[in-house]
Amino acid sequence: MIVAFRCPHCLQSLTEQAAEFDCRAGHHFDRAKEGYVNLLPGGRLKSRPAGDDESMVRARRRVFDAGMYDPVISAVAELVARSPVTNVVDAGCGEGSYLAAVTTRSGATGWGIDISKPAVRLASRRHCTHRYAIASSYALPFVDNSFEALINVFSPRDFAEMLRVLAPGGRAVVATPGPRHLAQLKALIYDDPRQHLDRSDSNTDSNADASVGEPTPQEVSSVQFELSLGDQDLRLSLLEMTPFWWSTTPERREVIAATPLVVDIDIQLSVYRKPNGSALHPVL
Ligand SMILES: C[S@@+](CC[C@H](N)C(=O)[O-])C[C@H]1O[C@@H](n2cnc3c(N)ncnc32)[C@H](O)[C@@H]1O
Ligand SMILES: [Zn+2]
Repeated sequence: MIVAFRCPHCLQSLTEQAAEFDCRAGHHFDRAKEGYVNLLPGGRLKSRPAGDDESMVRARRRVFDAGMYDPVISAVAELVARSPVTNVVDAGCGEGSYLAAVTTRSGATGWGIDISKPAVRLASRRHCTHRYAIASSYALPFVDNSFEALINVFSPRDFAEMLRVLAPGGRAVVATPGPRHLAQLKALIYDDPRQHLDRSDSNTDSNADASVGEPTPQEVSSVQFELSLGDQDLRLSLLEMTPFWWSTTPERREVIAATPLVVDIDIQLSVYRKPNGSALHPVL
């Protein structure tokens, strides 16, 4: 299967040129100097910019570069590499560290999409062999049956779309927060910190829910460990990369800045498989 981005207007495959992507119907999309392409219909969102902003994306990069999420990143990469993979897509890729680990481990070609321009820009700068697009997980910019594997880590997801772009037999690895995830941090932010009670309540590091049409996973496992947050900058970066940041009062940010912490990392990994020989929109 030759994988290609598809045109958001006519849904035909896009042909890659040096400076742009074109479809047969004559739609053109300029390639940014970093190499990514903006495939949101109309080129931008009508309202305010969507997805993570520049400071959240950079905070996430600092946390990953410090190795704080290495066990999680490795576990996702191991799950993907269990079967041969030629092409893998990260739906909601952020700054690209998960996709980088997955492609290194599996040898697959990496494709990443995110609705956040700062995220895609940062990902493209570092991982120039991957193909990146600004696009939504609710309208993945790929033709049907393209990928042997898909990952979705703490990001909104649409299972019908995920299954559409997976090839028959392809697998999706989905990471969501478990009940104890960042509990000690939340206890410093909220008077009544609500736990992540189930997977449907767990699309980001926050309590926001944006999952559509969840089927039954084939396999579920957990990554759990204690993370020592002695370094103030990294402690604040961890806070800033989560949507908790927005509900943290200045007073509580000061408390967190002054309080070395050990936090629980508790992440659930669910594997979904598209049946062999299934129709385009299989029911699992
Ligand atoms: C919590 S971050 C996770 C990023 C990355 N997967 C990681 O774990 O580092 C959530 C990501 O979802 C992106 N996002 C939000 N809504 C989206 C949508 N509709 N389609 C694609 N990405 C979206 C955000 O911009 C952000 O990069
Ligand atoms: Zn077109």
